[in-house]
Amino acid sequence: MQSFSDIAIFSGNAHKELASSVCKHLEMSLGESEVFQFSNEEVFVRILDNIRGKDVFLIQPIVSPVNTRLMELLIMIDAAKRASAGRITAVVPYYAYGRSDKKDQPRVPISGRLVANFLEVAGADRVLTLDLHAGQIQGFFNIPVDELTAFPMLADYFRGINLEKPIVVATDVGGAKRARDVAERLGCDLAIIDKRRTGNNEQAEAMSLIGEVEDHDCIIVDDEILTGGTVASAVDLMRARGARSVYVACVHPVFSKKAFEILDNAAIDQLVFTDSLPLVFGNFHNVNTSKLSMAPLQAMPSTEFTLEDLLVHSFAKFHLLALQY
Ligand code: R5P
Repeated sequence: MQSFSDIAIFSGNAHKELASSVCKHLEMSLGESEVFQFSNEEVFVRILDNIRGKDVFLIQPIVSPVNTRLMELLIMIDAAKRASAGRITAVVPYYAYGRSDKKDQPRVPISGRLVANFLEVAGADRVLTLDLHAGQIQGFFNIPVDELTAFPMLADYFRGINLEKPIVVATDVGGAKRARDVAERLGCDLAIIDKRRTGNNEQAEAMSLIGEVEDHDCIIVDDEILTGGTVASAVDLMRARGARSVYVACVHPVFSKKAFEILDNAAIDQLVFTDSLPLVFGNFHNVNTSKLSMAPLQAMPSTEFTLEDLLVHSFAKFHLLALQY
């Protein structure tokens, strides 16, 4: 009979804090490894523990420097495979390149698919991820993909602060389904923004709104924020339509340098995000933020789930599933 001692967890350099926190919850140590770059920027990995036959989890959100962190993950998978790991799960809380998920212009790649190919070719047996940009990305893989979601946790947060007249706002039509899920959890209405992007220069504009937000507490939800342009434009639209308060919530705080500047100066009552990835480009100084820590949330109701809870739950689930084979 297998036990947690058959699990081995390793982390690259993307989010060691998260990996350590997961291990703390599992009451086990993070596996020992060396992951660094030579002076010519080639990545080197050495797994220092014996993982022969073990159920190996490699935790690595693909965050800036994106291509280096991706290579770390791929090379860690290769190292684990060559060390005769029993099964390798790539735990990717943030899946970069997910926004390149279709050929929507002539002569463009589908980079999200390419990353899936890389992970498979490297030797991953399965992928555990969190709120992909589009659920269909699961289909880019020929190996099992378990996609967890942090939106219920975001919904619980807003239920906890007792807004008087909440309404959930999707930043674009693509995000309407997940926004509707949040609205249903809060028992409130949904509004949808018609967003336009012109060219590939990270400029987004909220054009019009389906729904009525006047005198409401707006909760703008998105899967990720990069430059902050999408939500800043959405916030302006909410204010122009007479919202009495505007909250912004996202799962993945990708936050480029520009986002800190834009969101610090936007008319936002509170910006809520998870720690699926670390803030690598800076910090906020003006805007009121709330980071939903995935670490044990003593201050929050017991119904709250943390990312670690989710991951731990999944680890346990995967492990139990493994026992059946
Ligand atoms: C796009 O479809 C996504 O859901 C986000 O709205 C987008 O990635 C945000 O990007 P930015 O913050 O650069 O506007």
